[in-house]
Amino acid sequence: MADFFTACFHADTYEQVRFLRAGLNWRDDHTDRFIAALCLGALHGESHRSPNYFSNRMPRTISTKPAYSVRWWRKHGYIAPYRDAFGILRGMVDFRFRTPPPDNRGEIAESDARKATTAFPHLEGRVTDIITSPPYLDTTNYREDQWLRLWFLGEDPKSTQACDDGRHYNKTLYWTFLKEAWEGVAPLLAPQARIVVRIGGRKQSKEDMLDSLLMSLKDATGRDVQPVDDGVTTPVKRTQANSFRGAKASPTVEHDFCFIVS
Ligand SMILES: C[S@@+](CC[C@H](N)C(=O)[O-])C[C@H]1O[C@@H](n2cnc3c(N)ncnc32)[C@H](O)[C@@H]1O
Repeated sequence: MADFFTACFHADTYEQVRFLRAGLNWRDDHTDRFIAALCLGALHGESHRSPNYFSNRMPRTISTKPAYSVRWWRKHGYIAPYRDAFGILRGMVDFRFRTPPPDNRGEIAESDARKATTAFPHLEGRVTDIITSPPYLDTTNYREDQWLRLWFLGEDPKSTQACDDGRHYNKTLYWTFLKEAWEGVAPLLAPQARIVVRIGGRKQSKEDMLDSLLMSLKDATGRDVQPVDDGVTTPVKRTQANSFRGAKASPTVEHDFCFIVS
């Protein structure tokens, strides 16, 4: 792992990153949370294209695996650039406050969707719209793909591996998981509510996904659920993360489905 960090960050930048990682109390402090969020956005990315990333060249969307990254940097002779993380953060804060923050306040909970009602008990029966993009079947394991950001948030880099309970790759476990997620939000739904779902995956047809979503929503809510239409399909752009991913390719299309629950 030491190999990875010395190749990923310039020595001085790494000191700053470690200082931020150790000092930001993002779970309890509002301001620290804001700064940590900015750090996560700048932690890694295409640093040959933008001066605002802390790392050696990496995709911004996913963190490539440590051994693979080191091999790739060595093969191409890519050296981590010196980046003043504090200066980058000051610039980002400045940019964000150029226009005043909106008056509306949102509420965010760090929670498993399956426990949404426990996280937002005061919203029971009041939620009119849910807009969500659940994990895609057979596409990726989010913990693995975000291991470097999870490390920044305090995890041991090794603990992010081997956390897969199978639901990302096994069709039955996947749909059981989604049904449990709908069960988690069902008590929050208003008498009439809309659920919008963006979903993709390589192994299931659009019709299959619509059917399975409809069935799992009906099962979980015990209410009448109607799709608004057949769903809107958009192609997935070939992003840098996709080319890095190799065999674990992203889906080629994504679908947006909308359901009315009454
Ligand atoms: C297809 S991605 C959607 C990403 C999202 N649209 C965004 O821009 O961040 C699916 C997301 O679901 C999250 N996820 C996986 N299991 C979850 C769970 N049990 N509860 C809540 N979120 C979960 C993953 O970490 C991932 O960020």
